[in-house]
Amino acid sequence: MKKIEAVIRPSKLEEVKDALSQYGIQGMTVSQVMGCGKQKGRVNVYRGQEYTINLLPKIKMEIVLADNQVDEVVELIVKTARTGEVGDGKIFVSPVDNAVRIRTNAAGSDAL
Ligand SMILES: Nc1ncnc2c1ncn2[C@@H]1O[C@H](COP(=O)(O)OP(=O)(O)OP(=O)(O)O)[C@@H](O)[C@H]1O
Ligand SMILES: [Mg+2]
Repeated sequence: MKKIEAVIRPSKLEEVKDALSQYGIQGMTVSQVMGCGKQKGRVNVYRGQEYTINLLPKIKMEIVLADNQVDEVVELIVKTARTGEVGDGKIFVSPVDNAVRIRTNAAGSDAL
């Protein structure tokens, strides 16, 4: 199992959520977060402010899924969340050791 953490623009949440649902993803966790990337949160570049960091509102989606779904889902998120402007976001993929559905005690991929 892997976890995809996708940080995207809030304006793209509905579209990405719909695409994931259409793909067949059922479980996800979505949070409102603040963040910055290379531009340190600047929308425009001003001289003399190189050292300040501005945090912009973003959406973080966390999805735990089977290894063989990762590439397709990453591709789907990239395709749906991209505008081509800076600040489109980033996707991180990491390994997940286990998952447990609390109601049934199902573990591993049966819990997803
Ligand atoms: N290295 C990182 N670690 C953790 N979170 C990050 C990292 N880079 C970006 N993020 C998160 O992703 C959001 C969007 O990043 P952003 O798309 O601006 O990345 P970027 O590297 O500056 O690329 P771009 O040049 O396209 O803007 C940030 O607000 C932050 O929440
Ligand atoms: Mg950026």
